[in-house]
Amino acid sequence: MDRIRIVGGNALNGEIEISGAKNAALPLMISALLTDEPVSLLNVPRLADVKQLERILENHGVDIAVHGRRRGDREMGGQRITITAGDIVDTTAPYELVSKMRASFWVIGPLLAREGRARVSLPGGCAIGTRPVDFYLDGLRALGADIEIDGGYVVATAPAGRLKGGHVVLPKVSVGATHTLMMAASLAEGTTVIENAAREPEVTNLAECLVSMGAKIAGIGTDRMVIEGVERLHGTSHEVLPDRIETGTYAMATAMTGGDVLLRGARSELLQAALDSLGEVGVSISQEDDGLRVRRNGNGLTAIDVETQPFPGFPTDLQAQFMALMTRANGTSAIRETIFENRFMHVAELARFGADIHVDGQTATVRGVPELKGAQVMATDLRASVSLVIAGLAARGETVVNRIYHLDRGFERLEDKLSRCGAEIERVTG
Ligand code: EPZ
Repeated sequence: MDRIRIVGGNALNGEIEISGAKNAALPLMISALLTDEPVSLLNVPRLADVKQLERILENHGVDIAVHGRRRGDREMGGQRITITAGDIVDTTAPYELVSKMRASFWVIGPLLAREGRARVSLPGGCAIGTRPVDFYLDGLRALGADIEIDGGYVVATAPAGRLKGGHVVLPKVSVGATHTLMMAASLAEGTTVIENAAREPEVTNLAECLVSMGAKIAGIGTDRMVIEGVERLHGTSHEVLPDRIETGTYAMATAMTGGDVLLRGARSELLQAALDSLGEVGVSISQEDDGLRVRRNGNGLTAIDVETQPFPGFPTDLQAQFMALMTRANGTSAIRETIFENRFMHVAELARFGADIHVDGQTATVRGVPELKGAQVMATDLRASVSLVIAGLAARGETVVNRIYHLDRGFERLEDKLSRCGAEIERVTG
């Protein structure tokens, strides 16, 4: 199994190209199920999760053409993928595929809206919490769907073959439920209102794509969206927005090691809360024409408290990385996780570097230490894994991160991007 080996201590200096966002690319790919015409997506990152979703879509009979860059083209440019769901040959999303990636459950929205039926495996729990799907099911019921659970599958049907507009109030902000209901409502008969909708930039990216396919959506970017269903949607071409979590991760890596890095293509408005926190910690951040510049030269890091919140708050997907940073700050930081109930698995691994962290319920108290020491550690989920890389970059001596398939799900060419900025990091195969 592949591992990542890091020798810590080098400051990061140079440029890192920010890839297209995984969490935008996935729902955009799924939205192609809503039309029989081609949907072309630009700036799609090369990630294991994208490949996995290609398999899932192909299982429904979708044709996927990847127009990759040729050798010699820009090294890290995203790929263009054209997805054509001419005929949906199968409305079942099987357990073997859905259990590998929770986002694949979202196909239930477009399949039900377009075909009037869908049979999708329940995604099950995952490392960061139980992650139920009750909001999705209640929302689809509000759109007129009949729903049964049978043998671990959600079997959903739209009476008379078409969903009807309805009123949905999400009990808690949910990115996936907002994506799914927005896609379903786009082809329903009549008007749907989604209240307490997620405002994450990835939701806006999907909404704008749906509009370019002919959907009628008002309130994009707000917590109340009004969707007037249309009879059919058409093909489009749409660009995946830059990955705000990758941006925040490299900003924190630079903050951790010191140095000066231009995050090419990054946009500050996608992660302002996290950038504000980094500013308070003592990191200098400036928006330039071609990206965000992150700098920390010589100054120490100041410990601050953060609490994860839905957008525009501090993202849960940057909580582990920020905790890694706080292990080296001056003072004590309280980090409160409010989105997922079990998202502190990196704590035990960070402790292996000599970090001083105490967890009480949903709050981790991090006391900064003068030095981290390299260690053998194990990745548990995607964002937790990269927090170990950040710690390793600053730790004295050698770090080996095991089980890095988690990293490959969401970070494109991580070791390459970091080593170009001076980090001593390599992938060890076998
Ligand atoms: C998306 O997951 C992201 N995944 C997650 O990123 C991200 O952490 C999360 O949103 C929050 O920002 C993708 O975009 C592919 P939610 P999602 O529904 O949609 C509860 C990563 O590392 N809930 O917004 O699955 C749920 O348990 C991943 O890239 C219910 O109770 O998250 C959680 O506590 C990890 N019932 C909260 O809502 C439901 O029916 C928010 O989850 C649905 C959700």
